[in-house]
Amino acid sequence: MASFEIRPLDEDEFEGLPNAFGVAFGFQPSEQDMADWQAGAELDRSLAAFDGDQVVGTAGAFSFELTVPGARQVAAAGVTAVSVRTTHKRRGILTSMMRRQLEDVAQRGEPLAILLASESVIYGRFGYGLATSHDAIEIDPRHGAFARPVDDRGRMRQLEKDAASKVLPGVFDASRKRNPGDVNRTATWWDTYLKDPESRRQGGSGLFFAVHESAKGKADGYVAYRVKNEWRHGLPGNEIRIDDLVADDPTVYAATWRYLLDIDLAGSITAWGRPVDEPLRWLLADPRRLRTTVTGDFLWARILDVPAALSARHYTVHGDLVLEVTDEFLGRATGRFALTAGPDSASCAPTKKKADLALSVADLGALYLGGHAASTLARAGRVDEKTKGALARADAMFVTHPAPYCRTGF
Ligand SMILES: CC(C)(COP(=O)(O)OP(=O)(O)OC[C@H]1O[C@@H](n2cnc3c(N)ncnc32)[C@H](O)[C@@H]1OP(=O)(O)O)[C@@H](O)C(=O)NCCC(=O)NCCS
Repeated sequence: MASFEIRPLDEDEFEGLPNAFGVAFGFQPSEQDMADWQAGAELDRSLAAFDGDQVVGTAGAFSFELTVPGARQVAAAGVTAVSVRTTHKRRGILTSMMRRQLEDVAQRGEPLAILLASESVIYGRFGYGLATSHDAIEIDPRHGAFARPVDDRGRMRQLEKDAASKVLPGVFDASRKRNPGDVNRTATWWDTYLKDPESRRQGGSGLFFAVHESAKGKADGYVAYRVKNEWRHGLPGNEIRIDDLVADDPTVYAATWRYLLDIDLAGSITAWGRPVDEPLRWLLADPRRLRTTVTGDFLWARILDVPAALSARHYTVHGDLVLEVTDEFLGRATGRFALTAGPDSASCAPTKKKADLALSVADLGALYLGGHAASTLARAGRVDEKTKGALARADAMFVTHPAPYCRTGF
């Protein structure tokens, strides 16, 4: 197997990254895309594989703060921009980049890495587990009556982009710190998002913004959406595409959906990346009208430092568990670890005690954010219960409600 140099890009080489990535994903980045990309990237974390002076493989990372159960934050590498040119694929370049990148993540002291996968077959071999799922949903707003009236003392207010840029980041940031699975958004992220480049619109309008304000005038939720105009035979049927929705309080959530469902000339409201336990179904008088069109994997998590990762989050109930973890790709997470944890504290350390559960590091990643039960993975033969009752204990400790989900693509 030929070996290719893998190293971070220099500043003057950076455009090799979007170019190679664009070829792999089938698009040509505009000059604006290139500039936005470079502004948002962390250069020292932007790895490339070189064949001579050509970039043939790419793998970047963001230094994220990830919210974990218990509304706590942990440093996590947000892996991004992974690609290998068609001319160089299936020669082990991705494998070499993943090894190099994960070692770098460990050196930086980040206990885990997270990513969104273009294809769900790719990352399990590197120790990533499917940590959060998401739904794509659709509803015809003409069947969007609520089962019960909403007593909202606040109001919805439409904002132009400039006003939105002052309000949305703060509302999002307060919310993401409460919601397991969410990551922080930098000022550069907001900058690019609010520029709203044509390449992100997919035939829809520019972004519209509506914010919810409490009776005292405090912004406490918002929705950003596009409209895809559709008229057939003189009849309106616009598609309202939700792009970003933040509303933690139940009344704010109901008011925001009421706003969306009441938009005139609409034939459908669609959203991607919604939580799998979307409360909207329970607001509707006719819940079957809310259709789930896709259920898919969203965040993948790769734990590198088991004690640091497991003690960073909190757990739904008190309990003790000894986990035997196997890390075939790197070996870093291999070992037996004793977890003593509950809703307010957690500690985890290597142990010689007998294991309660045995699992791969990828499957530990799948359990980590509380989105999946150990007993479900056991039913697929992925978790081995060594001590009777350990699966039920792990389910009670790890699983969290609401389900974890991430609102930021990266
Ligand atoms: C996915 C991609 C990065 C893989 O790069 P690569 O250098 O070919 O990967 P490797 O040669 O290191 O492959 C390692 C193993 O994964 C398998 N693999 C990699 N990509 C795969 C895919 N898309 N489908 C199925 N198997 C895949 C390989 O067959 C190989 O298996 P083996 O160890 O049993 O031989 C590359 O195909 C690509 O750029 N695809 C398009 C863009 C994309 O999807 N990027 C990922 C963004 S999240």
